[in-house]
Amino acid sequence: ATLLVDASPGMGRMMPQNMFGIFFEEINHAGAGGLWAELISNRGFEDGGPNTPSNIYPWSIIGNETNIIVSTDRTSCFIRNKVALRMEVLCDNNGSNICPAGGVGVYNPGFWGMNIQQGKAYKIALHVRTSESMNLYLSLTSSDGSLNLATATIQSDTLEKTDWTKVELQVESSGTNVNARFQLTTTTKGVIWLDQVSVMPLDTYKGHGFRMELASMLADLKPRFLRFPGGSYVEGEWLMNAFRWRETIGPWEERPGHFNDVWKYWTDDGLGFYEFLQLAEDIGALPLWVVNTGISHNDQVNPSSISAFDTLDAIEFARGDSGSKWGSVRASMGHPEPFQLYYVALGNQDCSMRNYKGNYLKFYSAIKDAYPDIQVISNCDGSSGPLDHPADLYDFHVYTSANNMFSMAHQFDRTSRSGPKAFVSEYAVTGKDAGKGSFLAALAQAGFLIGLERNSDIVEMASNAPLFVNDNDRRWSPDAIVFNSWQQYGTPSYWMQHFFKESSGAIIHPSVLQASSTKSLMASAITWQKSEDGNKYLKIKIVNCGSDLVNLKISVTGLENDVCSCVSKKTVLTGRLTDENSFREPKKVFPVSSKLPNARSNMDVVITPYSINAFDLFL
Ligand code: AHR
Repeated sequence: ATLLVDASPGMGRMMPQNMFGIFFEEINHAGAGGLWAELISNRGFEDGGPNTPSNIYPWSIIGNETNIIVSTDRTSCFIRNKVALRMEVLCDNNGSNICPAGGVGVYNPGFWGMNIQQGKAYKIALHVRTSESMNLYLSLTSSDGSLNLATATIQSDTLEKTDWTKVELQVESSGTNVNARFQLTTTTKGVIWLDQVSVMPLDTYKGHGFRMELASMLADLKPRFLRFPGGSYVEGEWLMNAFRWRETIGPWEERPGHFNDVWKYWTDDGLGFYEFLQLAEDIGALPLWVVNTGISHNDQVNPSSISAFDTLDAIEFARGDSGSKWGSVRASMGHPEPFQLYYVALGNQDCSMRNYKGNYLKFYSAIKDAYPDIQVISNCDGSSGPLDHPADLYDFHVYTSANNMFSMAHQFDRTSRSGPKAFVSEYAVTGKDAGKGSFLAALAQAGFLIGLERNSDIVEMASNAPLFVNDNDRRWSPDAIVFNSWQQYGTPSYWMQHFFKESSGAIIHPSVLQASSTKSLMASAITWQKSEDGNKYLKIKIVNCGSDLVNLKISVTGLENDVCSCVSKKTVLTGRLTDENSFREPKKVFPVSSKLPNARSNMDVVITPYSINAFDLFL
């Protein structure tokens, strides 16, 4: 087989600057108990909603009914989240009812155990009120409380008498335990109210609260955009439970939190609208906000009653100068400079909903009137026929088998070149072919992405879905990154995406595969300039979805410079089709790079069966 590449100047086409990005959804505890480094789960005791008795899970009681009674009431000092924990301590070490060893109180095991590491510092913040003068003991301990890793005492005289006090302190752990818990105890009779408790590692990505290793894995993909905060999460099963940006900004203690009724868990909204914008900036991506346009899975607002003003406020929060009403709120949170919000998607998979078009048009014109430079994304598919409404881009989702995914590399070959461009914001191989993240899924997706590159005159952006799964709450498989309290690994899909991280803004050159059958092969050729050293590279990618080894002759014409074998390399991702990575074997399927001593514009290469290959030729 032969691959002919025409790299003559002027023969290529620049791919969109923001072609490949990532899609974050609050699914599988991706944020709460994941990327957001908060270690306390249900920090405001609001998991059961605003009424009492509230669900305090996973908080548990230390002690029994003879020495402590735990309940919830609505006496919190926070207006938007009134529920507080009330602990009536019946025992006293200075009285006849002596407390059990270690005292009584409550503990929180975090999200399936806290990762506490020796020598690392943790910030603890909580709000507390006591009826009497009481010392309180805080600790990070082993899962059964028997071993202390870090301790601190809140002396009674540092607390307001009968009023709420915010306590903030820092502890350092003397040991490592990846299944640790936080506890608060006392040995004095009286009543303690507790609310808004936080334990965060001091060390987070860029100091902004993101779990270091997970955020680094995102940054390593060099994503050009971050679509957030969902997916279905944006819509909610019911509107009352949908993500509301306004409720997720401001001081963390004052955020009410909400029930993620699609993926069935509570989120304290520590990872809120501001944090998403900050995350995008921190990983070098542009934020792309998915807005709820008054439509959930089960209820919807009529166009006559909907207003887009809430959305304009959010955009002002992101982009307004620090003197504007909402820009000043952003500035007070620590970001005086505007965020670069240039993409807004209206809804998620809502096109067939009765009120979608009517609501869409209201949002579209309100946004365009106020911010003509914002790219507005419609939920309606424009790939098979023209849209009947204005849009800059249209959203395209695909979840399918491996075979279909690979053949969908040609999905956009015949799409009309006029009209809005496609944003393939969710693509994944799912079902039996994918398991929990098979190599087969990655292989088929790589073929699909090459097809998108080749059609990047009409496909503007693409992102895989979903991004994260906490292995303890797998609501959706496969996902790109798997983690638990202390470990993480990329699935083959994650590593496949690394093959595309130089593509955004690169030049794609005409390339043709010649073989008796090219059905199982996909190829593309791009040139790009490395920002670090200014050097130019030609990257040829070849995906072989078939069982045959292919002896391939690569022939590149039109190069201005000779290929230098010096730092040229080949990278291959391969494995058995059913291979998956795991905590035990995180790199079973992993890209392997080797030098290319024979790199030149005409070269013979061997493409192994079932493989994703990149040849990086130094020019
Ligand atoms: O990616 C998982 C889900 O798939 C998203 O929430 C939704 O948009 C799609 O149906």
